[in-house]
This record gives sequence, structure tokens and C-alpha cells, in this order.
Amino acid sequence: MVRAVESSAKGPLRVGVIGVGIMGANHARVFAGLPDVTLVGVADPSEQQRELVTRILGVPAVEHVDDLLGPGLDAVTIAAPTHLHHEMALKCIERGIHVLVEKPIASNVDEGREIIAAAKRRGVKLMVGHVERFNPAVQAIKDAIKDEDILSIGITRVGPFPPRMSNVGVVIDLAVHDIDLIRWFTDSEIVEVQPQLSSAIAEREDIALLQFRTASGVLAHINTNWLTPFKARTVHVATRKKYLIGDLLTRQVSECFGFQPDGSYSMRHLSVGHSEPLRAELQSFVSAVRDDKTPPVTGEEGVESLDVAMRCLEDRQPSKAASRRPEPRRAAG
Ligand SMILES: NC(=O)c1ccc[n+]([C@@H]2O[C@H](COP(=O)([O-])OP(=O)(O)OC[C@H]3O[C@@H](n4cnc5c(N)ncnc54)[C@H](O)[C@@H]3O)[C@@H](O)[C@H]2O)c1
Repeated sequence: MVRAVESSAKGPLRVGVIGVGIMGANHARVFAGLPDVTLVGVADPSEQQRELVTRILGVPAVEHVDDLLGPGLDAVTIAAPTHLHHEMALKCIERGIHVLVEKPIASNVDEGREIIAAAKRRGVKLMVGHVERFNPAVQAIKDAIKDEDILSIGITRVGPFPPRMSNVGVVIDLAVHDIDLIRWFTDSEIVEVQPQLSSAIAEREDIALLQFRTASGVLAHINTNWLTPFKARTVHVATRKKYLIGDLLTRQVSECFGFQPDGSYSMRHLSVGHSEPLRAELQSFVSAVRDDKTPPVTGEEGVESLDVAMRCLEDRQPSKAASRRPEPRRAAG
């Protein structure tokens, strides 16, 4: 059992991390460096991951989550595999612990809604880790399109297969980030989805071309796959008066404006901050807990983005064979 730390209204917020794999280890690293926060401990069944975190951060690491969730804990990040989010979140909420759950909020919409209802009943904060909203390049785009008449959004998020395959495809793993961004950029809900999915190599979909229409009339598309040898994350936004081009990896954002009847226009690079997105996300979670504010990404928003992703999967071809690419047609002669 992780030793309880003396509680004090003004003392540091006592946090823990459940699941310290690729993402959770980063949460632990960032929490350990935040002011007015004490990383009390982490929980992970993997001895290798526990040793790694203890060696680097010098915090206690326990095998079972129940041994982390003592009275000395105010808040946790849940970064265990997605199929465990529901069970872990309910456990924490039941004990009155505030929860930041990694994206997607849960494996399905019903589980997500149960997490929201439990958090409301118990009066704890619930935030979903849509970290891309805290990317300074994304924030520069959001600022640049404020009060603009948005017409269309195109997002590309491609790369190689992840080192360890989880039990979800590219829509739930990657596109859910961009579904959230489209909803956030437009301040509107997605009302129509037109998905095209294919499984070129993996069991689940590994290529997705998704088209959307928002209630506000914006057209959007997402191009995502695990078949590109390099990572690319780009966002293009067309508004009536501007065209924004953002690279979320290099954090360069440019805007074209001043369109003239002769086709000429001006272009400028926007100023983009340098903060680490995860640090900004965790700081906003801590401040929501401390100051009793609504977290910037609520459980409801996490469920809405998951719901859109699920709707993209509903029209999946009935059999894997049907969704697989056929052999290329051979030219005659
Ligand atoms: N926001 C982002 O950009 C982003 C990026 C990657 C992953 N994620 C999300 O983070 C979550 C974890 O993904 P990952 O890539 O870090 O996976 P991962 O496999 O690297 O890490 C998961 C960790 O959870 C541990 N775990 C398994 N069962 C557990 C249990 N019962 N209790 C505690 N820990 C347990 C595993 O041992 C592992 O160390 C997923 O929900 C994923 O969608 C979000």
C-alpha cells in the first residue's frame, strides 16, 4: 500500500498514475515536475514498467491498483489500456478520487456515459486526455479562426504501425484525436459521417478516409493510416477570409489572407508557443481540481468524440475479406 500523505487544503495535490506504459510513464514524468503536485505513486502489473518509473522518478510503484488508491490520493491519471478505463475510472470515482482518463474515454459510449454519471454522483472532476488540444500549433489555429466563417477542415494523421498493436483500429486510436479537434475548432457537433475503411495488413482497419458535416455546416475530412513510413500530422482550415496550414509536429502555422480578385493573396507565419502539450493538459487538470472548475475536456466531450468514431465503424463491411483490398487489376495485353 502506498503510504498516505498528510492531507491539507493548501498542500500539494497528491496524484497517482494507473498504467505506466508509453503514455502513462509520460504522465508520471510530467506530474513529478509540476509545482504544488506530489506524485504519490504509480500502479502497473508490468514489473519492467514499475522498475523503470521507480528508477527514473524515485516514486513507489505497486502492482495492483487497489494498493495505490488509498486515502492519501486526490487525483489520478488512468493510462491503462482502453478496455480497462471503465473499470479503473469507476474504482477511483467510488473512492472520491478525481480522474483524468486517457483518450478514448472508454471502449464504448455506454461505458463512457457510466463514467460520467458516476463522477457526477460522487462530485469528482472528470477530464479526458485529448492532449492535441494543448498542442501550441493547434491553439494557434484555434485563435486564428476565432470569429471566422469556417468552411472546411482537412486533417492528416498518418504514420507507421505502433510498436505494440492494441485491440483497436486506426479510427479509435488515431482519428478520435481529430474528431475532437473538428468539434473543438467548429464549436459544433458532427451530424453526418461518411467513412471509408480498409484493412490492408492489420486485423482491424488500418486505413481510414472519413468525411463529416457539422451542425454548423462545416465540411471536414480525416486521412489517417498506419501504412506511412513516417509520421505526419497536418491541419488545413479554409474560412471565408483565410486559409490556415498547420504542421502539428514541427509546430509551424501559416495563414493566407487578403484574397484579391486577381488571385493574389498575402501569407504570414503565426507565432506559436513552445509549451509541452502534456504539461499544459496536466496543469489544466490540476487547476480544475484545485479551483473547482469544469475541466477543459469534459467526459461529455470525450463520449461525443468516441460516439462519432463508433459511427464511422458502424458501416464497416460485414466480412474482413470484403474490406480487404483486392489484388490490383492487371492491364490487358
Ligand atoms: N493522448 C494520446 O496522445 C495517447 C497516446 C498514446 C496512448 N494513449 C492512450 O493511453 C492509453 C495507454 O496507451 P499506451 O500506448 O500507453 O499503452 P501501453 O501498452 O504502452 O501502456 C499501458 C500500460 O498499462 C498497464 N496495465 C495493464 N493492465 C493494467 C492494470 N490492470 N492496472 C494498471 N496498469 C495496467 C500495462 O502493463 C502497460 O504498462 C490508451 O487508452 C491509449 O488510447 C493516448
